[in-house]
Amino acid sequence: MVTQSIAGQAIRVRGLEKSYGKLEVLRGVDFDVARGNIFALLGSNGAGKTTTVRILATLLKADAGTATVHDCDVATQPAKVRESISLTGQFAAVDEILSGWENLVLVARLRHLKDPGAIADDLLRRFSLTDAGSRKVSTYSGGMRRRLDIAMSLIGNPSVIFLDEPTAGLDPEARIEVWHAVKELAGHGTTVLLTTQYLDEAEQLADRIAILHQGRIIVNGTLAELKQLFPPAKVEYVEKQPTLEEIFLSVIGGSDKSDVTGTTTGGQG
Ligand SMILES: Nc1ncnc2c1ncn2[C@@H]1O[C@H](COP(=O)(O)OP(=O)(O)O)[C@@H](O)[C@H]1O
Ligand SMILES: [Mg+2]
Repeated sequence: MVTQSIAGQAIRVRGLEKSYGKLEVLRGVDFDVARGNIFALLGSNGAGKTTTVRILATLLKADAGTATVHDCDVATQPAKVRESISLTGQFAAVDEILSGWENLVLVARLRHLKDPGAIADDLLRRFSLTDAGSRKVSTYSGGMRRRLDIAMSLIGNPSVIFLDEPTAGLDPEARIEVWHAVKELAGHGTTVLLTTQYLDEAEQLADRIAILHQGRIIVNGTLAELKQLFPPAKVEYVEKQPTLEEIFLSVIGGSDKSDVTGTTTGGQG
């Protein structure tokens, strides 16, 4: 049902497999991410999202299959891949004792970039942290910290950025702040692959959404395409669009709803 153009892909993943001992986490994962798109890899806790991202970021070797970033193979050309990517993990990697500005300058210096101060100023502005820039990070809110983390990962202008559950553990307000930051990234032409357990996050941010379940991508499309899979239910004369959550629960079936942590199915009565 979903057509994809072959040109213009920033990331291509084919037949990716990965096991930890007897646990088969990835059992043939396929997807593409177009340049400049925001792609959401949606899955329950333990679905294999971090495993996928770590393979793409050259931190982990797959057992089988291939993955390329800008046509460079992650297994055979890891150094080339690293030149164009950046990874922001689930846990913010900022230095608490330094200010936001100092954190940014530090990373820019480590990367031997010209004018680290100007780079820091620019990133603080892009992520609405200018006022907080001179404060110690230990005084930042969760949302500010995560935005700084994303800003830090942009130093050196990576063209592909991996955000592994960028809003995990944040309160609703902070999540919205981070969403703005992610949209800002794509606005600058950066390709974003983000993982999330939050259906509304995928719905808000992503150009395409893929659902990773039991080691495979079971659905991949735009939100509109996903919604077409499930025609609106007619209630008298009012069309009711399915929410992504309903689509998600419907595709993964009733088999193991215990996997679907953090979601609710109530509120339909
Ligand atoms: N290094 C490891 N050794 C053994 N099992 C692991 C390891 N890393 C992850 N796992 C397991 O693999 C599965 C997928 O993990 P992960 O990719 O972190 O999922 P997600 O990020 O979607 O929550 C989980 O069951 C997890 O416990
Ligand atoms: Mg994870």
